[in-house]
Amino acid sequence: MRFIVGLLFSVAALLGQGALYAQSSTPIITYNTQFHPTLARNGMVVSQDEHASNAGLEILKLGGNAIDAAVATGFALAVTHPQAGNLGGGGFMMIYLKSEDRVIALDYREMAPKAASKDMFLNENGDVDNRKARFSMQSSGVPGSVMGLTEAQRKYGTLPLATVMAPAIRLAGEGFPVSWALAYSLDRYKGRLSTDDASRNQFFKVDGSSYQEGEILRQPELAKTLTEISDKGAAGFYEGWVADRIVESMQTQGGLITHDDLKGYFAKEREALEGTYRDVKVVTMPPPSSGGVHILQMLNVFEGWDMKALGHNSANYLHRLTETMKYAYADRSKYLGDPDFFNVPISALTDKAYGSSIRRKIKLDAATPSTEIAPAPNLPDESKDTTHFSTMDAAGNMVANTYTLNFSYGNGRSVAGAGFLLNNEMDDFSAKPGSPNGFGLIGGVANAIEPGKRPLSSMTPTLLFKNGQPYVATGSPGGSTIITAVLQMVMNIAEFDMNAATATARPRIHHQWFPDRLIMEPGHSVDTRLRLAEMGHNVSGTASYNEGERVLGATMTILRRPDGLISGSADPRRPGAYAAAY
Ligand code: DON
Repeated sequence: MRFIVGLLFSVAALLGQGALYAQSSTPIITYNTQFHPTLARNGMVVSQDEHASNAGLEILKLGGNAIDAAVATGFALAVTHPQAGNLGGGGFMMIYLKSEDRVIALDYREMAPKAASKDMFLNENGDVDNRKARFSMQSSGVPGSVMGLTEAQRKYGTLPLATVMAPAIRLAGEGFPVSWALAYSLDRYKGRLSTDDASRNQFFKVDGSSYQEGEILRQPELAKTLTEISDKGAAGFYEGWVADRIVESMQTQGGLITHDDLKGYFAKEREALEGTYRDVKVVTMPPPSSGGVHILQMLNVFEGWDMKALGHNSANYLHRLTETMKYAYADRSKYLGDPDFFNVPISALTDKAYGSSIRRKIKLDAATPSTEIAPAPNLPDESKDTTHFSTMDAAGNMVANTYTLNFSYGNGRSVAGAGFLLNNEMDDFSAKPGSPNGFGLIGGVANAIEPGKRPLSSMTPTLLFKNGQPYVATGSPGGSTIITAVLQMVMNIAEFDMNAATATARPRIHHQWFPDRLIMEPGHSVDTRLRLAEMGHNVSGTASYNEGERVLGATMTILRRPDGLISGSADPRRPGAYAAAY
């Protein structure tokens, strides 16, 4: 069943069929299909869920800016897309403020609790206990989402927080009709969610059965928590009764987060990473995201080749992509971690000359086995569900936001009495050098567990600028495949001039150095697959590390056209995604 549904998504994605696009009566100009993005004049919100996109749209129509809309969407997703929308997780927000022509890179990633330690997930034999790292209370880092969303709103929004949070509070309190996508997902994850009393009570009916499509899901405890945040701001979560409930859940289930950890949590504005690909400026998330660094690194490699002349998704084009990905993920394993704890050689990795040196190493006619590729020996020091949404307003402000609980529904555990799920982001640390995490990624000291440290992430919200004007807001979920999905979006738009819908619909590939496997989505031509296999690539089907997932990423993209129209595309690879516009 899972396979068949996955296959259907893939086929629909490739055909650009309308079946997965919810329709609405919003007076937009065209609907999103494979070659035609959603077009509008005044503003747009693209997210994984229709209710959440509409929550953002409601705020835009009230006169809110792209930041107000993003915060409204972020809180609404915590209600209607509990797989990844969250209060108990963390993420990154890239904000472009048109009036100041300034980008803000807001890091609200979870932090390791003070009681965390390097070997906390090792068993008596010194092996990683994956259950503990992924599903225990100790798998949760100190949540950052509420700090991130409220801070973005306070500093860069224009409406009162209560106005912006009203749609989310309404959706939680009055309830909303469960979409096909949510009904399917909750049922599929019933095992994980129903072992925890609080999660079972929240997401299943009193008799334990699953919600069917169209039935109303009400979350009164979550509504109460949201109201507290709406009244008191971040203090309504990090202090007071919500904090008490979090600490209580920790104490009864062996978790580490204390009142002190919650009070000590801070979001951080970091300097955005800036690079160029030909005439397009790429502005993206710095560490503790690894995505921004590696996308700039890989673009630098491509820039020295005439990629366009190779033909989009030709074997020779994909060969260059794959080989470059291997070098980037090799460097990721050694050099990337929380910059507050580890000196990440950002400028060395994103230097155009370093890109050229990788380019020179790549054989143009044959794959180099991953075992023969290692992280650069010494770079100079410098002194399984996530969700992305993008918003843009008529003034040209834009937001690209990716946030997550890590796996779908995080560790599956909800805070009793407060109605929200907790993350299992501690698994994004490297629990032991060389031992793969839930996404098959390996790492070492740079990403070892330390109190107060933020686990390395692949989340890569990204903004593009052209001729000095705001151009694109994009990003994706997909764990380790986020970086390569966003990379291919940048290439499709910046190199091949595709519109948002075509850029989204084109089949993707992924390679992450180890395992030495080239994942190709369905839709690549058979001769391309065969040619790549002949070149020595270990071409696999489409599986990723996310159980049952058949596709790579789910990008939510908005592109401002030269004529001023706002054009966007919700990725049809995962069901339920929706572009709301007016
Ligand atoms: O931050 C990261 O890289 C991971 N926690 C993201 C997990 C993810 O994307 C799962 N989604 N499909």
